[in-house]
Amino acid sequence: MGDPNDLHALLDEAWRHLTRGVADSRSPARYPTFATVAPDGTPEARTVSLRGASRSQSVLEVHTDIATSKVIALQHNPKAAFHIWLPRADLQIRITAFVDIQTGPDTDPQWDRVPEGSRVSYGTMPTPGTPISDVYAYEKPSNRDRFAVFKCQLLEIDLVHLGARHRRAGFVRTDDWAGTWMAP
Ligand SMILES: Cc1cc2nc3c(=O)[nH]c(=O)nc-3n(C[C@H](O)[C@H](O)[C@H](O)COP(=O)(O)O)c2cc1C
Repeated sequence: MGDPNDLHALLDEAWRHLTRGVADSRSPARYPTFATVAPDGTPEARTVSLRGASRSQSVLEVHTDIATSKVIALQHNPKAAFHIWLPRADLQIRITAFVDIQTGPDTDPQWDRVPEGSRVSYGTMPTPGTPISDVYAYEKPSNRDRFAVFKCQLLEIDLVHLGARHRRAGFVRTDDWAGTWMAP
């Protein structure tokens, strides 16, 4: 490790992990926990796959089935949180974001790149979360109309690095990600 006081080196490291997560399914950053708030105020968390990360646009991308409950939650409250723990780097990444839900022709570029075998993730019948009479009483046709892209506009990034002495840093979009050290 270089200078432990280098705030931006820590942010650089976080973005390296996010970018790697998109490309490498063995990276823990590939599968963040994605949290939303249900319309009744209940927090909901689930694993998702990280599909895009752009530092220049401050955007993370997630793909989902429009019929899942996270979409209902986001229509009610468009804020979400990501959580990633990278055990080998001893780094926790927490991110809050404003989520723009895209469907239809806007998502053609992403849909075109979803492998044929993965398209069945979008279209489960009955819709995800519906009680069923038997463990396998569902079908997984691919349904292009159910494909949705979450463009997650990052608002805040909170990093905790566990070392001989712990370090915590907070970054917010509103000050152009300048960041500050925080008590861990
Ligand atoms: C490793 C893993 C990766 C997953 N990736 C996604 C994903 O990218 N998008 C998604 O909608 N659900 C994904 N899921 C399923 C969700 O965790 C969840 O079960 C499903 O989306 C329904 O969630 P909801 O009812 O809270 O919306 C994944 C699950 C696992 C275990």
